[in-house]
Amino acid sequence: MGVTALCPGTFDPVTNGHLDIIERAGQHFDGVVVAVLENPAKRPLFDVDERLQMLREATAGLANVEVDSFTGLLVEYARRRGSGVIVKGLRAVTDFEYEIQMAQMNRRLAGIETLFMTTAPTWSFLSSSLVKEVASFGGDVSGLVPPSVADRLKRKLGSA
Ligand code: PNS
Repeated sequence: MGVTALCPGTFDPVTNGHLDIIERAGQHFDGVVVAVLENPAKRPLFDVDERLQMLREATAGLANVEVDSFTGLLVEYARRRGSGVIVKGLRAVTDFEYEIQMAQMNRRLAGIETLFMTTAPTWSFLSSSLVKEVASFGGDVSGLVPPSVADRLKRKLGSA
């Protein structure tokens, strides 16, 4: 039986940093499920359908990658999908504190392992929040996100 890894996140919107991790995870596992958290309480810029669509477009060339959404606990979703491994990217030591808490909690809740991959140095400064901030002030985000995401940011924020 193949091993499927989960790459969970908010992906509001997906960046080239996320895509780097997703693509590299796909080289080490039989399958990768990109799991988009649907949490209206977080008031995302893009609703879950838009985030799914952007991710599906961006990962269309990756044969073993599937994009899906979930609500509630990630470990419950992992159980439903039959996956025991979460893969997350670490950009810098500042990510570590947040990520280690979630990894420890998920292991306590369900024995699920979290494996960390180091983000490619090219994307070590990149975050969805920063992309949205730059785009909202008319800055150029091309090359940081897929072209279709840059277009959507432009339409949504009237800039980028
Ligand atoms: O891209 P993000 O925002 O860092 O992703 C965070 C995410 C979605 C992985 C995390 O918030 C999550 O798993 N949420 C689902 C609810 C849950 O399981 N919470 C307990 C985590 S220990």
